[in-house]
Amino acid sequence: MLRAADQGLMTASRAGRSVIVVGIQWGDEGKGKIVDLLTERVGAVVRFQGGHNAGHTLIIGGEKTVLHLIPSGILRPDVACVIGNGVVLHLPSLLQEIDRLESRGVQVTGRLRISAACPLILPTHIELDRARESAGGARAIGTTGRGIGPAYEDKAARRSLRISDLFDPARLAERLAAAAALHNFVLEHYHKVAPVDAGAMLEELQRLGERVKPLAADTALFLDEQRRAGANLLFEGAQGAMLDVDHGTYPYVTSSNTTAGFAATGSGLGIGAFDYVLGIVKAYSTRVGAGPFPTELFDDTGRHLAEVGVEFGSTTGRPRRCGWFDAVAARRAVLHNGVTGLCVTKLDVLDGLDRLKICVGYRLRGQVVDSTPVFVDQYADCEPVYEELPGWHASTVGITALEALPANARRYLERIEEVLGVPVDMISTGADRAQNIIVRHPFD
Ligand code: GDP
Ligand code: IMO
Ligand code: MG
Repeated sequence: MLRAADQGLMTASRAGRSVIVVGIQWGDEGKGKIVDLLTERVGAVVRFQGGHNAGHTLIIGGEKTVLHLIPSGILRPDVACVIGNGVVLHLPSLLQEIDRLESRGVQVTGRLRISAACPLILPTHIELDRARESAGGARAIGTTGRGIGPAYEDKAARRSLRISDLFDPARLAERLAAAAALHNFVLEHYHKVAPVDAGAMLEELQRLGERVKPLAADTALFLDEQRRAGANLLFEGAQGAMLDVDHGTYPYVTSSNTTAGFAATGSGLGIGAFDYVLGIVKAYSTRVGAGPFPTELFDDTGRHLAEVGVEFGSTTGRPRRCGWFDAVAARRAVLHNGVTGLCVTKLDVLDGLDRLKICVGYRLRGQVVDSTPVFVDQYADCEPVYEELPGWHASTVGITALEALPANARRYLERIEEVLGVPVDMISTGADRAQNIIVRHPFD
Protein backbone atom coordinates (compact mmCIF):
# COMPACT_ATOMS: atom_id res chain seq x y z
CA MET A 1 0.00 0.00 0.00
CA LEU A 2 2.60 2.53 1.10
CA ARG A 3 4.86 1.63 -1.79
CA ALA A 4 1.99 2.31 -4.23
CA ALA A 5 1.44 5.71 -2.61
CA ASP A 6 5.15 6.48 -2.85
CA GLN A 7 5.10 5.71 -6.53
CA GLY A 8 2.28 8.17 -7.13
CA LEU A 9 -0.28 5.45 -7.82
CA MET A 10 -2.60 6.62 -5.06
CA THR A 11 -3.69 10.13 -5.80
CA ALA A 12 -7.36 9.78 -4.83
CA SER A 13 -7.19 12.69 -2.37
CA ARG A 14 -6.57 15.10 -5.25
CA ALA A 15 -9.15 13.56 -7.57
CA GLY A 16 -11.78 15.80 -9.12
CA ARG A 17 -15.48 15.40 -8.50
CA SER A 18 -17.64 13.32 -10.87
CA VAL A 19 -21.32 14.08 -11.37
CA ILE A 20 -23.80 12.01 -13.38
CA VAL A 21 -26.77 13.80 -14.94
CA VAL A 22 -29.68 11.51 -15.80
CA GLY A 23 -33.28 11.94 -16.87
CA ILE A 24 -35.63 10.27 -14.40
CA GLN A 25 -38.78 10.26 -16.56
CA TRP A 26 -39.23 9.37 -20.26
CA GLY A 27 -36.48 11.60 -21.68
CA ASP A 28 -36.49 15.27 -22.73
CA GLU A 29 -36.39 16.46 -19.13
CA GLY A 30 -33.98 19.26 -20.05
CA LYS A 31 -30.72 17.35 -19.48
CA GLY A 32 -28.84 19.20 -22.23
CA LYS A 33 -29.60 22.61 -20.77
CA ILE A 34 -28.43 21.58 -17.30
CA VAL A 35 -25.32 19.78 -18.58
CA ASP A 36 -24.34 22.91 -20.51
CA LEU A 37 -24.83 24.98 -17.36
CA LEU A 38 -22.81 22.66 -15.12
CA THR A 39 -19.92 22.23 -17.57
CA GLU A 40 -18.76 25.69 -16.47
CA ARG A 41 -17.13 23.79 -13.61
CA VAL A 42 -15.70 20.72 -15.40
CA GLY A 43 -12.65 19.57 -17.32
CA ALA A 44 -14.50 16.97 -19.40
CA VAL A 45 -18.05 15.94 -20.25
CA VAL A 46 -18.95 12.42 -21.34
CA ARG A 47 -21.83 10.77 -23.20
CA PHE A 48 -21.98 7.14 -22.05
CA GLN A 49 -25.03 5.50 -23.71
CA GLY A 50 -27.60 5.89 -26.46
CA GLY A 51 -26.86 7.42 -29.81
CA HIS A 52 -28.30 10.04 -32.13
CA ASN A 53 -31.80 9.17 -30.88
CA ALA A 54 -31.06 11.83 -28.23
CA GLY A 55 -31.87 15.49 -28.82
CA HIS A 56 -30.46 17.89 -26.24
CA THR A 57 -31.37 21.57 -26.55
CA LEU A 58 -29.17 24.44 -25.40
CA ILE A 59 -30.30 28.07 -25.52
CA ILE A 60 -27.67 30.67 -24.82
CA GLY A 61 -28.58 34.33 -25.13
CA GLY A 62 -31.49 33.36 -27.37
CA GLU A 63 -29.34 31.21 -29.72
CA LYS A 64 -30.49 27.59 -30.00
CA THR A 65 -28.26 24.54 -30.48
CA VAL A 66 -29.61 20.99 -30.64
CA LEU A 67 -27.07 18.22 -30.00
CA HIS A 68 -27.61 14.54 -30.73
CA LEU A 69 -24.24 12.85 -30.18
CA ILE A 70 -21.79 15.53 -29.14
CA PRO A 71 -21.82 16.20 -25.38
CA SER A 72 -23.58 19.35 -24.21
CA GLY A 73 -20.32 20.92 -23.03
CA ILE A 74 -19.11 21.66 -26.55
CA LEU A 75 -20.10 25.33 -26.38
CA ARG A 76 -17.60 25.93 -23.57
CA PRO A 77 -14.23 26.16 -25.34
CA ASP A 78 -12.09 24.80 -22.49
CA VAL A 79 -14.09 21.64 -21.87
CA ALA A 80 -12.96 18.30 -23.34
CA CYS A 81 -15.80 16.27 -24.84
CA VAL A 82 -15.86 12.48 -24.78
CA ILE A 83 -18.06 9.88 -26.44
CA GLY A 84 -17.68 6.78 -24.31
CA ASN A 85 -17.74 3.12 -25.32
CA GLY A 86 -21.41 2.74 -24.31
CA VAL A 87 -22.60 4.97 -27.18
CA VAL A 88 -23.62 3.53 -30.57
CA LEU A 89 -22.26 5.77 -33.27
CA HIS A 90 -23.67 6.73 -36.67
CA LEU A 91 -20.73 8.26 -38.52
CA PRO A 92 -22.69 10.41 -41.02
CA SER A 93 -24.71 12.00 -38.20
CA LEU A 94 -21.60 12.59 -36.09
CA LEU A 95 -19.75 14.29 -38.94
CA GLN A 96 -22.78 16.36 -39.88
CA GLU A 97 -23.04 17.56 -36.27
CA ILE A 98 -19.34 18.40 -36.18
CA ASP A 99 -19.55 20.30 -39.49
CA ARG A 100 -22.62 22.22 -38.39
CA LEU A 101 -20.92 23.32 -35.16
CA GLU A 102 -17.62 24.17 -36.84
CA SER A 103 -19.41 26.25 -39.49
CA ARG A 104 -20.70 28.34 -36.58
CA GLY A 105 -17.18 28.79 -35.23
CA VAL A 106 -17.36 26.13 -32.48
CA GLN A 107 -14.08 24.19 -32.35
CA VAL A 108 -14.85 20.46 -32.17
CA THR A 109 -11.87 18.64 -33.67
CA GLY A 110 -9.07 18.61 -31.13
CA ARG A 111 -11.59 18.67 -28.27
CA LEU A 112 -13.68 15.60 -29.05
CA ARG A 113 -12.42 12.12 -28.16
CA ILE A 114 -14.30 8.99 -29.16
CA SER A 115 -13.81 5.60 -27.58
CA ALA A 116 -12.24 3.14 -30.02
CA ALA A 117 -14.69 0.58 -28.61
CA CYS A 118 -17.86 2.38 -29.78
CA PRO A 119 -20.02 0.12 -31.96
CA LEU A 120 -21.07 1.66 -35.28
CA ILE A 121 -24.63 2.12 -36.47
CA LEU A 122 -24.79 0.89 -40.09
CA PRO A 123 -27.33 1.85 -42.77
CA THR A 124 -28.78 -1.67 -42.47
CA HIS A 125 -29.47 -1.08 -38.73
CA ILE A 126 -31.58 1.92 -39.69
CA GLU A 127 -33.43 -0.04 -42.36
CA LEU A 128 -34.08 -2.89 -39.93
CA ASP A 129 -35.39 -0.47 -37.28
CA ARG A 130 -37.76 1.15 -39.78
CA ALA A 131 -38.92 -2.14 -41.33
CA ARG A 132 -39.79 -3.54 -37.90
CA GLU A 133 -41.60 -0.42 -36.86
CA SER A 134 -43.72 -0.34 -39.99
CA ALA A 135 -44.50 -4.04 -39.58
CA GLY A 136 -45.30 -3.53 -35.88
CA GLY A 137 -48.72 -1.91 -36.39
CA ALA A 138 -50.38 -1.19 -33.07
CA ARG A 139 -47.46 -2.85 -31.27
CA ALA A 140 -44.83 -0.54 -32.77
CA ILE A 141 -42.53 1.06 -30.18
CA GLY A 142 -42.49 4.45 -31.88
CA THR A 143 -38.70 4.47 -32.10
CA THR A 144 -36.76 7.40 -33.46
CA GLY A 145 -35.89 5.26 -36.51
CA ARG A 146 -32.18 5.78 -35.91
CA GLY A 147 -31.16 2.10 -35.87
CA ILE A 148 -30.47 2.13 -32.12
CA GLY A 149 -32.13 -1.20 -31.26
CA PRO A 150 -30.52 -3.27 -34.06
CA ALA A 151 -27.11 -1.71 -33.32
CA TYR A 152 -27.25 -2.68 -29.63
CA GLU A 153 -28.46 -6.16 -30.61
CA ASP A 154 -25.36 -6.61 -32.75
CA LYS A 155 -23.17 -5.43 -29.89
CA ALA A 156 -24.61 -8.12 -27.61
CA ALA A 157 -24.33 -10.65 -30.44
CA ARG A 158 -20.61 -9.77 -30.83
CA ARG A 159 -21.21 -8.79 -34.44
CA SER A 160 -20.62 -5.03 -34.24
CA LEU A 161 -18.11 -3.11 -36.24
CA ARG A 162 -16.35 -0.80 -33.83
CA ILE A 163 -14.39 2.43 -34.29
CA SER A 164 -11.21 0.37 -33.85
CA ASP A 165 -12.11 -1.67 -36.96
CA LEU A 166 -11.68 1.46 -39.09
CA PHE A 167 -7.93 1.12 -38.53
CA ASP A 168 -7.72 -2.31 -40.18
CA PRO A 169 -9.09 -2.23 -43.77
CA ALA A 170 -9.11 -6.01 -44.25
CA ARG A 171 -10.88 -6.62 -40.95
CA LEU A 172 -13.36 -3.82 -41.67
CA ALA A 173 -14.26 -5.33 -45.06
CA GLU A 174 -14.58 -8.83 -43.62
CA ARG A 175 -16.75 -7.87 -40.66
CA LEU A 176 -18.93 -5.58 -42.75
CA ALA A 177 -19.51 -8.30 -45.33
CA ALA A 178 -20.63 -10.71 -42.60
CA ALA A 179 -22.95 -8.18 -40.93
CA ALA A 180 -24.38 -6.97 -44.25
CA ALA A 181 -25.11 -10.53 -45.41
CA LEU A 182 -27.15 -11.24 -42.29
CA HIS A 183 -28.92 -7.86 -42.21
CA ASN A 184 -29.78 -8.01 -45.90
CA PHE A 185 -31.09 -11.55 -45.59
CA VAL A 186 -33.50 -10.42 -42.88
CA LEU A 187 -34.48 -7.27 -44.78
CA GLU A 188 -35.19 -9.16 -48.01
CA HIS A 189 -36.61 -12.45 -46.84
CA TYR A 190 -38.29 -11.59 -43.54
CA HIS A 191 -39.35 -7.95 -43.97
CA LYS A 192 -39.67 -8.17 -47.77
CA VAL A 193 -37.97 -4.83 -48.30
CA ALA A 194 -35.01 -3.83 -50.45
CA PRO A 195 -31.52 -4.75 -49.21
CA VAL A 196 -28.74 -2.18 -48.80
CA ASP A 197 -25.79 -2.15 -51.22
CA ALA A 198 -22.93 -3.64 -49.17
CA GLY A 199 -20.27 -2.14 -51.47
CA ALA A 200 -21.65 1.35 -50.99
CA MET A 201 -21.73 0.80 -47.20
CA LEU A 202 -18.06 -0.18 -47.19
CA GLU A 203 -17.08 2.77 -49.36
CA GLU A 204 -18.91 5.17 -47.03
CA LEU A 205 -17.33 3.65 -43.91
CA GLN A 206 -13.85 3.89 -45.45
CA ARG A 207 -14.39 7.49 -46.54
CA LEU A 208 -15.99 8.76 -43.32
CA GLY A 209 -13.64 6.59 -41.27
CA GLU A 210 -10.67 8.64 -42.44
CA ARG A 211 -12.20 11.73 -40.81
CA VAL A 212 -13.13 9.94 -37.61
CA LYS A 213 -9.89 8.00 -37.03
CA PRO A 214 -8.00 11.01 -35.59
CA LEU A 215 -10.73 11.36 -32.93
CA ALA A 216 -10.43 7.77 -31.70
CA ALA A 217 -8.87 7.43 -28.25
CA ASP A 218 -8.54 5.33 -25.13
CA THR A 219 -11.20 7.44 -23.45
CA ALA A 220 -11.30 5.50 -20.17
CA LEU A 221 -7.60 6.15 -19.68
CA PHE A 222 -8.06 9.83 -20.60
CA LEU A 223 -10.90 10.26 -18.08
CA ASP A 224 -8.97 8.48 -15.37
CA GLU A 225 -5.97 10.74 -15.95
CA GLN A 226 -8.19 13.84 -15.89
CA ARG A 227 -9.84 12.78 -12.67
CA ARG A 228 -6.54 11.98 -10.97
CA ALA A 229 -5.18 15.34 -12.06
CA GLY A 230 -8.04 17.01 -10.19
CA ALA A 231 -10.46 17.79 -13.05
CA ASN A 232 -14.19 17.60 -12.40
CA LEU A 233 -16.06 15.28 -14.77
CA LEU A 234 -19.67 15.35 -15.90
CA PHE A 235 -21.48 12.30 -17.31
CA GLU A 236 -24.40 13.21 -19.56
CA GLY A 237 -27.21 10.68 -19.71
CA ALA A 238 -29.51 10.41 -22.69
CA GLN A 239 -33.16 9.31 -22.66
CA GLY A 240 -34.64 8.70 -19.20
CA ALA A 241 -35.00 6.03 -16.53
CA MET A 242 -38.43 4.90 -17.72
CA LEU A 243 -36.85 4.11 -21.10
CA ASP A 244 -34.09 1.95 -19.56
CA VAL A 245 -33.97 -1.47 -21.24
CA ASP A 246 -33.98 -3.25 -17.84
CA HIS A 247 -35.92 -0.92 -15.57
CA GLY A 248 -38.23 0.98 -17.92
CA THR A 249 -41.67 0.21 -19.32
CA TYR A 250 -40.40 -2.77 -21.35
CA PRO A 251 -40.81 -3.37 -24.27
CA TYR A 252 -41.63 0.33 -24.81
CA VAL A 253 -38.08 1.39 -24.01
CA THR A 254 -34.85 2.20 -25.79
CA SER A 255 -32.16 -0.47 -26.14
CA SER A 256 -29.57 0.85 -23.71
CA ASN A 257 -29.32 1.22 -19.95
CA THR A 258 -30.17 4.83 -19.32
CA THR A 259 -29.71 4.75 -15.56
CA ALA A 260 -26.74 6.15 -13.66
CA GLY A 261 -24.98 2.83 -13.10
CA PHE A 262 -24.22 2.64 -16.78
CA ALA A 263 -22.11 5.82 -16.56
CA ALA A 264 -19.40 3.51 -15.20
CA THR A 265 -19.71 0.74 -17.80
CA GLY A 266 -20.31 3.14 -20.67
CA SER A 267 -17.26 5.25 -19.90
CA GLY A 268 -14.88 2.62 -18.53
CA LEU A 269 -14.47 4.11 -15.04
CA GLY A 270 -15.21 2.08 -11.92
CA ILE A 271 -18.29 2.82 -9.81
CA GLY A 272 -16.11 4.23 -7.05
CA ALA A 273 -15.23 7.16 -9.33
CA PHE A 274 -18.63 8.86 -8.95
CA ASP A 275 -19.69 11.36 -6.30
CA TYR A 276 -23.15 12.69 -7.08
CA VAL A 277 -26.16 11.77 -9.26
CA LEU A 278 -28.35 14.65 -10.44
CA GLY A 279 -31.81 13.43 -11.43
CA ILE A 280 -33.44 15.78 -13.93
CA VAL A 281 -37.21 15.85 -13.71
CA LYS A 282 -39.76 18.00 -15.48
CA ALA A 283 -42.37 19.64 -13.25
CA TYR A 284 -44.89 17.55 -15.22
CA SER A 285 -44.50 14.48 -17.47
CA THR A 286 -43.99 13.94 -21.18
CA ARG A 287 -43.36 10.92 -23.35
CA VAL A 288 -42.63 10.50 -27.08
CA GLY A 289 -43.50 7.23 -28.77
CA ALA A 290 -45.76 4.42 -27.59
CA GLY A 291 -46.10 2.79 -24.16
CA PRO A 292 -47.85 3.21 -20.83
CA PHE A 293 -48.24 6.71 -19.44
CA PRO A 294 -50.78 6.69 -16.59
CA THR A 295 -50.94 10.47 -16.06
CA GLU A 296 -51.40 11.39 -19.74
CA LEU A 297 -53.88 14.23 -20.30
CA PHE A 298 -56.11 14.72 -23.33
CA ASP A 299 -57.81 17.90 -22.09
CA ASP A 300 -57.12 21.64 -21.96
CA THR A 301 -54.42 21.17 -19.31
CA GLY A 302 -52.63 18.71 -21.61
CA ARG A 303 -52.83 21.27 -24.38
CA HIS A 304 -51.51 23.98 -22.03
CA LEU A 305 -48.46 21.84 -21.17
CA ALA A 306 -47.81 20.99 -24.83
CA GLU A 307 -48.16 24.57 -26.05
CA VAL A 308 -46.47 26.50 -23.25
CA GLY A 309 -43.80 23.81 -22.88
CA VAL A 310 -43.34 23.63 -26.69
CA GLU A 311 -43.42 19.86 -26.38
CA PHE A 312 -42.17 18.61 -29.73
CA GLY A 313 -39.36 16.05 -30.04
CA SER A 314 -35.91 17.62 -30.55
CA THR A 315 -34.87 14.70 -32.78
CA THR A 316 -37.97 13.70 -34.71
CA GLY A 317 -40.24 16.75 -34.28
CA ARG A 318 -43.07 14.46 -33.09
CA PRO A 319 -45.57 15.98 -30.62
CA ARG A 320 -44.81 14.77 -27.09
CA ARG A 321 -47.60 13.27 -25.00
CA CYS A 322 -48.11 15.40 -21.86
CA GLY A 323 -49.47 14.71 -18.38
CA TRP A 324 -49.28 15.45 -14.66
CA PHE A 325 -46.18 14.75 -12.60
CA ASP A 326 -45.97 11.01 -11.85
CA ALA A 327 -44.31 10.67 -8.45
CA VAL A 328 -44.78 6.90 -8.40
CA ALA A 329 -42.69 6.41 -11.55
CA ALA A 330 -40.19 9.09 -10.46
CA ARG A 331 -39.73 7.46 -7.03
CA ARG A 332 -38.84 4.22 -8.78
CA ALA A 333 -36.38 6.12 -11.00
CA VAL A 334 -34.77 7.72 -7.93
CA LEU A 335 -34.19 4.22 -6.59
CA HIS A 336 -32.70 2.84 -9.82
CA ASN A 337 -30.38 5.81 -10.25
CA GLY A 338 -29.37 6.38 -6.63
CA VAL A 339 -30.27 10.05 -7.11
CA THR A 340 -28.41 12.43 -4.77
CA GLY A 341 -30.32 15.56 -5.70
CA LEU A 342 -33.03 16.65 -8.11
CA CYS A 343 -33.19 19.37 -10.71
CA VAL A 344 -36.82 20.29 -11.45
CA THR A 345 -37.11 21.83 -14.92
CA LYS A 346 -39.85 23.73 -16.75
CA LEU A 347 -41.49 24.96 -13.53
CA ASP A 348 -42.49 28.06 -15.50
CA VAL A 349 -44.72 25.95 -17.77
CA LEU A 350 -47.11 25.45 -14.82
CA ASP A 351 -47.57 29.23 -14.37
CA GLY A 352 -51.23 30.19 -14.58
CA LEU A 353 -52.77 26.79 -13.86
CA ASP A 354 -55.38 27.00 -11.04
CA ARG A 355 -54.87 23.53 -9.60
CA LEU A 356 -51.95 21.11 -9.95
CA LYS A 357 -51.99 17.36 -9.55
CA ILE A 358 -49.27 14.97 -8.46
CA CYS A 359 -49.81 11.24 -9.00
CA VAL A 360 -48.98 9.59 -5.66
CA GLY A 361 -50.37 6.09 -6.28
CA TYR A 362 -51.85 3.82 -8.92
CA ARG A 363 -55.19 2.07 -8.81
CA LEU A 364 -54.60 -1.41 -10.18
CA ARG A 365 -57.40 -3.96 -10.31
CA GLY A 366 -59.32 -2.31 -7.48
CA GLN A 367 -56.30 -1.84 -5.20
CA VAL A 368 -54.25 1.29 -4.61
CA VAL A 369 -50.49 0.76 -4.77
CA ASP A 370 -47.74 3.31 -4.15
CA SER A 371 -45.07 1.74 -6.37
CA THR A 372 -44.85 0.76 -10.02
CA PRO A 373 -46.10 -2.77 -10.83
CA VAL A 374 -43.64 -5.64 -10.56
CA PHE A 375 -44.96 -7.01 -13.83
CA VAL A 376 -44.51 -4.20 -16.29
CA ASP A 377 -47.28 -5.50 -18.52
CA GLN A 378 -49.69 -4.43 -15.75
CA TYR A 379 -48.54 -0.85 -16.23
CA ALA A 380 -51.10 -0.22 -18.95
CA ASP A 381 -53.90 -1.02 -16.47
CA CYS A 382 -52.72 1.46 -13.83
CA GLU A 383 -54.91 4.48 -13.17
CA PRO A 384 -53.43 7.47 -11.39
CA VAL A 385 -54.40 8.43 -7.83
CA TYR A 386 -53.90 12.17 -7.51
CA GLU A 387 -53.17 14.64 -4.78
CA GLU A 388 -54.14 18.24 -5.58
CA LEU A 389 -52.18 21.37 -4.84
CA PRO A 390 -53.00 25.01 -5.50
CA GLY A 391 -51.34 26.60 -8.53
CA TRP A 392 -49.94 30.14 -8.88
CA HIS A 393 -50.66 32.98 -11.22
CA ALA A 394 -47.48 35.05 -11.09
CA SER A 395 -44.78 34.35 -13.68
CA THR A 396 -41.79 32.29 -12.57
CA VAL A 397 -39.95 32.77 -15.88
CA GLY A 398 -36.28 33.53 -15.33
CA ILE A 399 -36.46 33.65 -11.50
CA THR A 400 -33.01 32.95 -10.02
CA ALA A 401 -33.71 33.05 -6.25
CA LEU A 402 -35.80 30.53 -4.34
CA GLU A 403 -37.38 33.27 -2.18
CA ALA A 404 -38.64 35.04 -5.31
CA LEU A 405 -40.85 32.09 -6.32
CA PRO A 406 -44.58 32.31 -5.54
CA ALA A 407 -45.37 30.55 -2.23
CA ASN A 408 -47.44 27.88 -4.02
CA ALA A 409 -44.57 27.12 -6.42
CA ARG A 410 -42.29 26.49 -3.43
CA ARG A 411 -45.00 24.36 -1.87
CA TYR A 412 -45.21 22.30 -5.07
CA LEU A 413 -41.42 21.77 -5.08
CA GLU A 414 -41.42 20.86 -1.38
CA ARG A 415 -44.09 18.26 -2.04
CA ILE A 416 -41.97 16.75 -4.84
CA GLU A 417 -39.05 16.59 -2.41
CA GLU A 418 -41.23 14.87 0.20
CA VAL A 419 -42.75 12.27 -2.08
CA LEU A 420 -39.46 11.43 -3.80
CA GLY A 421 -37.38 11.57 -0.62
CA VAL A 422 -34.53 13.55 -2.21
CA PRO A 423 -33.72 17.27 -2.08
CA VAL A 424 -34.43 19.63 -4.96
CA ASP A 425 -30.95 21.07 -5.49
CA MET A 426 -31.69 22.96 -8.71
CA ILE A 427 -34.72 24.49 -10.44
CA SER A 428 -34.94 25.56 -14.06
CA THR A 429 -37.23 28.52 -14.77
CA GLY A 430 -36.75 28.93 -18.51
CA ALA A 431 -34.96 27.44 -21.50
CA ASP A 432 -32.00 29.83 -21.39
CA ARG A 433 -28.70 28.92 -19.73
CA ALA A 434 -29.15 31.81 -17.26
CA GLN A 435 -32.65 30.88 -16.04
CA ASN A 436 -32.01 28.74 -12.96
CA ILE A 437 -32.20 28.62 -9.20
CA ILE A 438 -29.23 26.79 -7.69
CA VAL A 439 -29.96 25.69 -4.13
CA ARG A 440 -26.94 23.38 -3.83
CA HIS A 441 -24.42 23.10 -6.66
CA PRO A 442 -23.58 19.46 -7.51
CA PHE A 443 -19.88 20.34 -7.73
CA ASP A 444 -19.74 22.05 -4.31
P1 GDP B 1 -33.19 16.72 -23.09
O1 GDP B 1 -33.35 15.70 -24.14
O2 GDP B 1 -33.40 16.18 -21.71
O3 GDP B 1 -31.89 17.49 -23.19
O4 GDP B 1 -34.35 17.80 -23.30
P2 GDP B 1 -34.79 18.45 -24.71
O5 GDP B 1 -33.81 19.47 -25.10
O6 GDP B 1 -35.13 17.38 -25.69
O7 GDP B 1 -36.18 19.09 -24.30
C1 GDP B 1 -36.28 20.05 -23.29
C2 GDP B 1 -36.93 21.30 -23.91
O8 GDP B 1 -37.32 22.19 -22.88
C3 GDP B 1 -35.96 22.09 -24.79
O9 GDP B 1 -36.69 22.71 -25.80
C4 GDP B 1 -35.39 23.13 -23.81
O10 GDP B 1 -34.97 24.31 -24.49
C5 GDP B 1 -36.60 23.41 -22.96
N1 GDP B 1 -36.33 23.78 -21.56
C6 GDP B 1 -35.38 23.28 -20.73
N2 GDP B 1 -35.53 23.78 -19.49
C7 GDP B 1 -36.60 24.61 -19.54
C8 GDP B 1 -37.29 25.40 -18.56
O11 GDP B 1 -36.97 25.42 -17.39
N3 GDP B 1 -38.38 26.09 -18.99
C9 GDP B 1 -38.80 26.08 -20.28
N4 GDP B 1 -39.88 26.78 -20.60
N5 GDP B 1 -38.18 25.34 -21.23
C10 GDP B 1 -37.10 24.60 -20.85
P1 IMO C 1 -33.28 12.45 -25.03
O1 IMO C 1 -31.84 12.12 -24.73
C1 IMO C 1 -37.37 10.97 -25.49
C2 IMO C 1 -37.85 6.97 -27.20
C3 IMO C 1 -38.51 6.85 -28.55
C4 IMO C 1 -39.20 5.51 -28.39
C5 IMO C 1 -38.19 4.71 -27.56
C6 IMO C 1 -37.27 3.80 -28.38
O2 IMO C 1 -33.47 13.60 -25.95
O3 IMO C 1 -34.08 12.55 -23.77
P2 IMO C 1 -35.17 4.28 -29.93
O4 IMO C 1 -35.05 5.10 -31.18
O5 IMO C 1 -34.27 4.72 -28.84
O6 IMO C 1 -35.08 2.81 -30.19
O7 IMO C 1 -36.69 4.54 -29.45
O8 IMO C 1 -37.40 5.68 -26.88
N1 IMO C 1 -36.67 7.87 -27.14
C7 IMO C 1 -36.68 9.08 -26.57
N2 IMO C 1 -37.69 9.77 -26.01
N3 IMO C 1 -36.11 11.47 -25.48
C8 IMO C 1 -35.09 10.77 -26.01
O9 IMO C 1 -33.80 11.16 -25.88
C9 IMO C 1 -35.35 9.54 -26.63
N4 IMO C 1 -34.59 8.62 -27.26
C10 IMO C 1 -35.41 7.60 -27.55
O10 IMO C 1 -39.43 7.89 -28.79
O11 IMO C 1 -40.36 5.66 -27.61
MG1 MG D 1 -34.43 15.40 -25.91
